[in-house]
This record gives sequence, C-alpha cells and structure tokens, in this order.
Amino acid sequence: MSTAISPTAYNYKVVRQFAIMTVVWGILGMGLGVFIASQLVWPELNFGLPWTTFGRLRPLHTNLVIFAFGGCALFATSYYVVQRTCQTRLISDSLAAFTFWGWQAVIVGAGITLPLGYTTTKEYAELEWPIAILLAIVWVVYAVVFFGTIVKRKTKHIYVGNWFYGAFILVTAMLHIVNHASLPVSLFKSYSAYAGATDAMIQWWYGHNAVGFFLTTGFLGMMYYFVPKQAERPIYSYRLSIVHFWALITLYIWAGPHHLHYTALPDWAQSLGMAMSIILLAPSWGGMINGMMTLSGAWHKLRTDPILRFLVVSLAFYGMSTFEGPMMAIKTVNSLSHYTDWTIGHVHAGALGWVAMISIGALYHMIPKIFGRAQMHSVGLINTHFWLATIGTVLYIASMWVNGITQGLMWRAINDDGTLTYSFVEALQASHPGYIVRALGGAFFASGMLFMAYNVWRTVRASDPAEAEAAAKIAVVGAH
Ligand code: HEM
Ligand code: HEM
Repeated sequence: MSTAISPTAYNYKVVRQFAIMTVVWGILGMGLGVFIASQLVWPELNFGLPWTTFGRLRPLHTNLVIFAFGGCALFATSYYVVQRTCQTRLISDSLAAFTFWGWQAVIVGAGITLPLGYTTTKEYAELEWPIAILLAIVWVVYAVVFFGTIVKRKTKHIYVGNWFYGAFILVTAMLHIVNHASLPVSLFKSYSAYAGATDAMIQWWYGHNAVGFFLTTGFLGMMYYFVPKQAERPIYSYRLSIVHFWALITLYIWAGPHHLHYTALPDWAQSLGMAMSIILLAPSWGGMINGMMTLSGAWHKLRTDPILRFLVVSLAFYGMSTFEGPMMAIKTVNSLSHYTDWTIGHVHAGALGWVAMISIGALYHMIPKIFGRAQMHSVGLINTHFWLATIGTVLYIASMWVNGITQGLMWRAINDDGTLTYSFVEALQASHPGYIVRALGGAFFASGMLFMAYNVWRTVRASDPAEAEAAAKIAVVGAH
C-alpha cells in the first residue's frame, strides 16, 4: 500500500535518517572508545602503525561520539520536536536532506583525515579547513531550516524546548566560526588566526561552550520535550524553565578560563572563570530539578518504564556532573585534578551518564512513532540496555575518580629533601587496575548499544512508513 505524502504531514524521513545514524555512529564511536581504553591497558594494541596509535584515534573517538552520535541525536530530535510543537512541516525538505548528507560527509571526512594525521591540533576543533567550512555551511542551513520552521509555526507561542535547541544552534555557529578562523597554507594544513594566550583563550571559550551549548543546551531541549512526554505530565514549572534558559545561557559563556588555570592566561581571567563556574551550579540544578519534578505523581512509572528510567537517570548524572564541574573549577581543587583521570571521569559522567543516556531515552520514545509502531519491539531489551548503560557509567566514573586522585596525590608527594617521592612511571603503574575497570565499564556501555541496534532493527523492519506519515497527517489536521 502506498499513500501519497500529504504536504501538511511532518517530514519524518530526515528524522528517521538521523535517528538510525545516531545508533550507527554511537556503536562506532563508543566501540572506538573501548578500543582506545584498551590501548591504555595493553599498549601493543597501537600495532606500531601511525594510523592506529592512541594519539590519532583519540580525536576520532571524540569527533565520532560528540559530533556524529551526539550531533545526529540533536538533529533527529530537534527536527522532530520543532515540527510537532509548531504543528507544521519543516520549511524545506531539500534543505533538510542537505543537512543530513552534509553532516554525514563531515563525519566521513573526519574518519579519513584524523587517522591520517591531518589536524589543527585544537581539541574538539581538529578538522582541517575544507571540512570545517563544509561544517559551517551545513550548520547555517540547519539554522535556516530550524528557525524557518519556527517562523511558519501554527501555534501561538514557541515551546521552551525550541528555545534551548535554538540557542544551541546559534551559539554553536558562533563558536565554530570564530575559533576556526585560520590561514590555510595547503589543502590540509592551516594556522590559527590567533596566537599565544589569546589563541588558548579563544580555544577554551570554544571548548567549554561546546560543552555548554552542544553537549548541554541542545540536550536540555531534548529533556524539555521527551521527559514530559514519556512521563505524561506537563513540565513541572514553565516559569522555572524560562529562568533556567536565560540564566544558563548568560553564565556559560564566561566559564571557559577554568580550563586554563595556572597558565599564561591573566590571573583575573582565571578567577572570573572560576567564579562564573561556581555560579553556574544554580541554573544547572534549576534545570535538573525542573526535569525531575516533572515526575511528581508519576514516580511509580519508573518501576515499569525503562525509557523513563533512562531519562531520569540521565538527569541524575547531569546533576552530578554539574556539581562536580564547579568544584573542579576551584583553583585549589583544579591543581589536584588537572591533567589527571579525574577530568576524564568528569567528562564521561556528563558524556555517558547525561548526553548518551538522554539521547537513548529520547530515541526509544521517538523511534516507534516515526516508524509507525505502537512501541519498541522489546521492552525487556530496553531494560537490559538500561542496566548495562548504568553499570557501565558507574564503573567508568568510579575507576577514574580513584585513578585521578591517586595520580594527583602521587605527582605532588615530596620527600623531606624536596625531591619527588614517586616517578611518573610509578603513578602509571598504580593507574593500571583503574584502566582495566574503565575498559570493562566502556564495554558494558557499548554492548548496550548493540542491544539497542537489534531492538531498533526489529522495530523498523516490522514498520510501515506510510502508516507513520498518515499518523503524522492526522496529528497536524487534528490540531486545527
Ligand atoms: C563506551 C563508551 C566510551 C568509552 C570506553 C570511552 C573512552 C574514552 C577514552 C579511553 C578516552 C581517552 C582518555 C584519555 O585520554 O586518558 C576518552 C576521551 C573522551 N571521550 Fe570517551 N568514551 C566513551 C564514550 C564517550 C561518549 C558517549 C562521549 C560523548 C558524548 C565521550 C566523550 C569523550 C571526550 C570529550 C573525551 C576527551 C576528554 C578530555 O580530553 O578531557 N566518550 N574516551
Ligand atoms: C556547571 C557545569 C560544569 C562546570 C562548571 C564544569 C567544569 C569543568 C572543569 C573545571 C573541567 C576541568 C578543566 C581542566 O582541569 O582542564 C571540566 C572539564 C570538562 N568538562 Fe565540565 N563542567 C561542567 C559540566 C559538564 C558537563 C555537563 C559535561 C558533559 C556533558 C562536561 C564536559 C567536560 C569536558 C568534555 C571536559 C574536558 C575538557 C578537556 O580538557 O578536553 N562538563 N569541566
């Protein structure tokens, strides 16, 4: 049976494409995470080849998990949410398709160039100028599709989730374009337009706000739609969500210098970054509380609904990492934590516990809807995935706390005569058990993604896309 797609129905095709690729890139990016974690346990896995060394695969991991997995999850959910909350189709199918294929091209470009050693050397901004330009173009088109759809909305007001997605899109464009300003000297080599401490400051203004806007604000947009939907409750406080929004975006942008404590950056800038980071705790927790309290009167659902569990536990990890971050931004604490595995543990509390878990929860909610199914193929498999993800995250964070504090204390231990008590290698040997536990935790998390892939495949295989389009049409027509 084939039903002509009504022009008023939503564009679910692009949502489906991004949703499937989220799972695919999630498996590859996290699989690579497990591989580089294993390299730190068994260095022989570097294979003595330049392309497979830790130094080249690590940035590939970060690019795949942040931009490929996280990025596709953000594209998929933002296109879904903006259409449903604005009760209108995306303004242009061809521009939306361009963002899908353009984004995949950027990722494939990263997959080829990073192992070959082409890099700007700026963390999370490694891609050389031809790919960076493509990324900028795709992003501007994304902004046109997203904001254009908001402009032609059929609803009166703009739902708060779209505010968060909108800020994430605008600020990411600004960060990427400013930080990538560079002088190309050949097809795959460029030099930054900035120098010295200015370059460092701009890089970490970018880096921190990539965390703040890409890994946080966008996913908060997701939270504001999918948590109320899955809990079948309105958001706890709409007023709090507005305060949360403005406080978060005004504060985040100042906190970047906490990445540059005790460096050549002027001391006042470091202290400003520290102060702003501590204040940032308030809006972060405001958002977490707003999400959590949405479950008031619906807590019992957690017993039977593993999708809701993914969403709520992600909020708990969000709360935890946004408490830990401000503490690590305090200069005296940072003098212990910086350069150690504590930072890596903090990163993954946010990355696995918050970013990955909320994305997974949102996908489990959304996939049956966009593929025209009542629910996912197996709720039991979602539950298995939930436990693998939770246990994996806890193993990862706990082992990195132990390692980080051990390293920090061993590096600073001094004998009476002023010499170092431990050599670097001794600290490394002490870290070895922690690296094994981390690799194990990562393997738990990544294997959960394989269960997800199977579950999604079974759900999609049995689906009828025409039915989904018809359901979308009814939703639009029903709104008038
Ligand atoms: C199975 C899951 C994962 C494993 C096993 C894993 C493993 C690793 C390892 C071994 C490193 C290098 C640490 C070092 O240099 O000492 C790393 C870095 C990193 N990973 Fe993951 N990862 C996983 C998932 C993720 C996800 C889902 C994200 C983001 C959404 C992420 C974001 C990052 C970032 C940002 C860094 C760089 C941290 C820094 O420079 O401080 N990872 N990961
Ligand atoms: C209020 C919120 C937060 C604050 C104040 C904060 C603060 C910090 C601090 C002080 C560091 C260590 C800097 C260093 O010593 O080099 C750090 C590193 C990092 N944080 Fe956070 N954090 C917050 C939330 C988050 C969240 C929610 C995520 C992930 C989703 C995250 C991801 C990262 C990453 C990726 C790094 C490593 C950067 C690098 O060196 O490559 N942070 N954060």
